[in-house]
Amino acid sequence: MVEVLIGPASRELGVKVTQELNLKSILVESKVFPDGESYIRIPEEKIDREIILIQSTYPPQNKHLIELFLMLDAAKDLGAEKITAVVPYLAYARQDKRFRPGEAISVKALAKLIEKAGADKFITFNIHKEKSLEFFNINSINLSGAPAIGSYFLQKGVVNPYVVAPDEGAYNLALEVSKILNCECTYFEKKRDRITGVVKTEAKELDIKGKTAIIVDDIISTGSTIANVAEILKSQGAKKIYAVCIHPILINDAQNRMKMAGVDEILGTDCIPSEISKITVSKVLAEALKREL
Ligand code: R5P
Repeated sequence: MVEVLIGPASRELGVKVTQELNLKSILVESKVFPDGESYIRIPEEKIDREIILIQSTYPPQNKHLIELFLMLDAAKDLGAEKITAVVPYLAYARQDKRFRPGEAISVKALAKLIEKAGADKFITFNIHKEKSLEFFNINSINLSGAPAIGSYFLQKGVVNPYVVAPDEGAYNLALEVSKILNCECTYFEKKRDRITGVVKTEAKELDIKGKTAIIVDDIISTGSTIANVAEILKSQGAKKIYAVCIHPILINDAQNRMKMAGVDEILGTDCIPSEISKITVSKVLAEALKREL
């Protein structure tokens, strides 16, 4: 028998996936002590069965990560036979190498901690670099939210779309979406200053006049990457501009920054719950879990 343990950071997605799979779910209780420490409780005496644990690790990342570690450890203590940790958004994944001497390779440290805390299998969505999965010794799977984004726009009946990746790293994801929409796809060259964080995008001429631009990225954080591209597309006559991502972190007035640059609508998936997370990855996740169970 398999049961789904739903962590405090992925309530809605957890419930949707449980319904898709027709499984029993357990809602994990959580609170924060006055000194800021996290507390979790699995409301069961024993869970001597196979468990799927869902917990995303968006901001506040450290709190959500500690909750994840506490839940994994508690589930093992309570007798879980095998735990599949589903972490729709894995925090710290952008620090996947030593960019400057002496830096921590943060995603490597997280892989070790998740494994040590008790995960037997790891599933995530659009990890920043697929290669980071090599830091896990347990079976690890990187799912793509592109089918969910593609079907959303198909259902919306978007007219004359043109999919754009704001940098080369997002090109494969954008390409997946463009194949579903059967339209053109391209990417821009982007450079980020490692110290100041300032993003520069090289302009290039596109046949975008009168078309609906769909800018697709894995993460929207400050919105600067998208804003740069939106300005270029707007100046070249794009009729409507969507900005869509898998992981809407949205910090520092990101939505406003993108809108000021010409973005008409901002969308994300429920890998991170937010007011713009209108695209659900629940079907993609449920299908993957069915294959894995
Ligand atoms: C980095 O290369 C990622 O794919 C995103 O493009 C980046 O994290 C977006 O960050 P921001 O919204 O702050 O420009």
